Amino acid sequence: MHTELRYGRIKYLSFLLLDLLCLLAANYFSLYIYVGSKDVPYNFGDHYSVMIVMMVIDIIVTFVFSTLRRVLRWRTRREVYESARHVFICFIVLGLYLFLTKTGAGYSRAVVVLAYIVDYVFIGAGRTAWRVLLSKIRKKKEKLSVLLMTTDRFVDEGIERLKELNYDVRYLYLLKNINKKEINGIPVVSDVKDAASILCWKEIDKVYIYGLDHQMVPIYLTNACKEMKLSFDLVDFSYRVIDVKTIQHEDPKYGALSFLEAKRDIPFPIRRVYWITETEADMHRGFHAHKLNCQLLFCPYGVIDIILNDGEQTTTVTLDKPDKGLILMPGLWREMVWKQSGSVLCVLASEYYDAQEYIRNYDEFIVYSRKYREGAEAIKTKSL
Ligand code: TYD
Repeated sequence: MHTELRYGRIKYLSFLLLDLLCLLAANYFSLYIYVGSKDVPYNFGDHYSVMIVMMVIDIIVTFVFSTLRRVLRWRTRREVYESARHVFICFIVLGLYLFLTKTGAGYSRAVVVLAYIVDYVFIGAGRTAWRVLLSKIRKKKEKLSVLLMTTDRFVDEGIERLKELNYDVRYLYLLKNINKKEINGIPVVSDVKDAASILCWKEIDKVYIYGLDHQMVPIYLTNACKEMKLSFDLVDFSYRVIDVKTIQHEDPKYGALSFLEAKRDIPFPIRRVYWITETEADMHRGFHAHKLNCQLLFCPYGVIDIILNDGEQTTTVTLDKPDKGLILMPGLWREMVWKQSGSVLCVLASEYYDAQEYIRNYDEFIVYSRKYREGAEAIKTKSL
């Protein structure tokens, strides 16, 4: 309820008003049927006071039981369930109220039961129709509104990228709370439920995920997107050199301290850490690519060349300082050359060791990389 009112006050209240109108209409309809079918004198005054109680209960139930929670995201089947839940709770609460206050003896119980049954049909149909109408009357905008999901390390880069693509970045969802309320004037959200509510109540056309492995996208958000029929765009680089935060001690003899933080610097879940030591100069290792594994490489001691090949181009990144890191996404052939004996290579990996996930034959890699590049978006979107 809290997030609904925070992100979609007007739409939320419009649904509440709609529910009340449905309840009113259901009551009049039931009265009409009841009085019309039986030629009995009926005390309307008593029924009106019950109707007012029903409406107050309706409002209270909506707030207390959050029966309109993310109503914009529901589909017909969910609507059937949620509307039934709402009406059932209202019915029970009214029953309890009348029983405890020993009031309402003059009204017909049949009218109230019928009113709730009709109300169920009305709100089910009314909410669905209103939801469809709201989506139809959305203004066509020149720029698509986007919620950008990323980490604080890649946020500036992500915003820049979206600007180039002529998107309007309306919200930022950062994996880790950095206690910032906004960045470059764009509001920051750090709770996944808030992000899902924004997708529901705000006019967001697309979710853009920048520089993250798909495993970092919370399932809650994926489901929200599916329910709202919003498309995901996973935009990642194949590799990225990053600065590893390093603190030099005032007295050089104490050296330097470097650190990497999950969800901020490392855009994938860490399942494995390994390191290669006792190496001789001019030694070559690697000669493989990964199908799934994302990695972050760093060299805390020595000099190591990482030769990368994406099937078309070759690049060399030299890891020669402890404050330099290299993020590698899947689909890259790599070869490591130890330029100095004793150099240490440390690797943070997103997957457990699995020989099946490696490609160790270069020709096979070329075929795979072509397919990977062509279908990268499709593969990833599917796996979300
Ligand atoms: P390999 O991947 O061939 O090393 P490199 O590509 O750097 O030359 O790994 C060497 C051996 O170590 C190989 O038998 C697999 C094994 N290994 C594991 O068991 N677990 C691991 O996490 C890694 C990286 C390797």
